[in-house]
Amino acid sequence: MLGGVDATVTPERMRATLGRFCTGVTVVSTEFDGVAHAMTANAFVSVSLDPPLVLVSIDQRARMHEILARSRRYGVSVLSADQERVALHFAGRPMPDPGGLLEPAAEAGPPLIHGAIAHVVCELHATVPAGDHTLYLGLVEELRSRPGAPLLFHAGDFGRIDVEQHESRWTAW
Ligand SMILES: Cc1cc2nc3c(=O)[nH]c(=O)nc-3n(C[C@H](O)[C@H](O)[C@H](O)COP(=O)(O)O)c2cc1C
Repeated sequence: MLGGVDATVTPERMRATLGRFCTGVTVVSTEFDGVAHAMTANAFVSVSLDPPLVLVSIDQRARMHEILARSRRYGVSVLSADQERVALHFAGRPMPDPGGLLEPAAEAGPPLIHGAIAHVVCELHATVPAGDHTLYLGLVEELRSRPGAPLLFHAGDFGRIDVEQHESRWTAW
């Protein structure tokens, strides 16, 4: 049996067990009342192609929870392998001198993370309460990406993979 006989469900065991699922790392960013706000999130998923929808799950205690509900327009930046410090910065461990992490907003657009490997700009489509989190479903308005290795998150730590720079075999999905 995997990991012995204890199959109980506790917050600690949810964290430890679900942490075995490897993800990338994103930063959700927005602007409200002229103030930019950004938050690191790995609970991000592509949901639908038609209409194009993505989802991010946000803790109700996060400042972003309220800000996103008000701003309604936001960006999701997929971090590159060398952006671990950026992930920590927007997860409550700020750098002393973070200048230039966010690209200035394009016309009426949300600020985005400079140097990310993908940018997804969304309009808030729906929110779904989900326990101590809320699922924010976004209708995708703009997409930009470039080749490059992603930052990974697994078992509570950051990781990296070598990425071959070729077209995916699965683009036909
Ligand atoms: C790798 C990583 C992934 C995270 N993923 C999420 C997430 O998906 N949802 C969430 O609500 N918080 C997530 N967090 C925690 C938030 O980034 C953190 O609580 C942040 O400080 C909240 O910012 P805010 O309160 O200023 O909005 C993650 C943190 C790290 C380091």
